[in-house]
Amino acid sequence: MYVRPVAAAAAAFLGLALTLAGTASSATATTPAPSSPSSPSSPSSRAGSDPVRLVGAPVVYAHRGASSYAPENTLAAVDAAAAMYVDWVENDVQRTKDGELVVIHDDTLTRTTDVKARFPDRKPWRVQDFTAAEIATLDAGSWFGARFAGARVPTLRQYLDRVDDNQQRLLLEIKKPQLYPGIERDTLRVLLEAGWLDEQHVRRRLVVQSFDADCVRIVHALRPDVVTAFLGTPPEADLARYGQFADRINPWHTTISAEWVAAAHRVTGVHGRAMEVDTWIVDDPATARKVQAMGVDGIISNAPDVVREAVGGF
Ligand code: G3P
Ligand code: CA
Repeated sequence: MYVRPVAAAAAAFLGLALTLAGTASSATATTPAPSSPSSPSSPSSRAGSDPVRLVGAPVVYAHRGASSYAPENTLAAVDAAAAMYVDWVENDVQRTKDGELVVIHDDTLTRTTDVKARFPDRKPWRVQDFTAAEIATLDAGSWFGARFAGARVPTLRQYLDRVDDNQQRLLLEIKKPQLYPGIERDTLRVLLEAGWLDEQHVRRRLVVQSFDADCVRIVHALRPDVVTAFLGTPPEADLARYGQFADRINPWHTTISAEWVAAAHRVTGVHGRAMEVDTWIVDDPATARKVQAMGVDGIISNAPDVVREAVGGF
C-alpha cells in the first residue's frame, strides 16, 4: 500500500509525542512556553495572542467566522472576518462516515445545509452518517442568504488553508468528541499535514478547545506544546485541576463574575502562566463592556466588529 510521505511522517510524529507524554510524569514540565521572547512582559506573553493588543483590551474572536455576516463555519465566514481585519476565527470540527474532518457546528446537517431536500430518506441526517463526498455536494449557504448559495461545508484541511492564506489565527473547537473516538489524534494529524504544528503556528496562531475535559487532556498529552482551552465554568475550587492540561478556561458570559475571572487568573495554566479567560458569545456593546470590566482576556463574538469597537481592541 502506498502511504503518502506527509501522512506517514505525521503518524510517526504523533506516535512519538504520545510515547513521550506517556512516559513523563508531567509532559508540560519541560515544554517551553509558547510566548513571544521579544516582549515577555507585554500582552504578547499571552499564549497565542496578538502582540500589539492594547493593555486592557480583550482579544476579539470571530465565532464560527464572522457569523453575523456570512454562513457560520464556511470559508465565506472566514473571509468576512478577514475583511474586517479580525485575525482570530473560531470553528467547530466533526468527522464524516469515511473519516474526513469537516467544519460544522451541529452533529446533524439539517439546520445549515439543504441535506433534507437532497437526501430525503437519510433521517436523522447526522454528519457521521454521510461521506465527505456527499457532504461536499450540499449547499451550506442558502439558509443564510441567497448570495451565499453554493457555499460548502469545508473540510478541516480546506478551512486551515484558507485561514493560513488570510494570515489569520484559529481557535479550533473539537465538537462532541464522544461521537468520534480518536478525533483528537485525527485533528492533530490534519493540523500537522497542513503545516499548523510548526513553531510559528503553535506559538502564535493556534488554540484547541473543547467542552470535553478528557478531549482537552488527550490533545495536551499528544502535543504538549499546543495551547489548549476548556469550555465551561468550573467552580472556583476546581479550577486548579484544569491547569494540569489547559492554558485557558472559556466560559459562557452569563455564568461569570469579576470574582470568578480573578480566581481563574490566580490559577497557573499548563504552560506556567496565569490561566486566561475567553468568554462567549457576546454580540452587543453593553455586554462586551461588561465582560471587559470583569477582566476577561478575550471575547468570542458573531459580530466581532461590534465588540471590537465597544472594547477598543484589535
Ligand atoms: O467558542 C465558544 C463557543 O463556540 C461554544 O459554543 O455551541 O457555539 O460551539 P458553541
Ligand atoms: Ca464552537
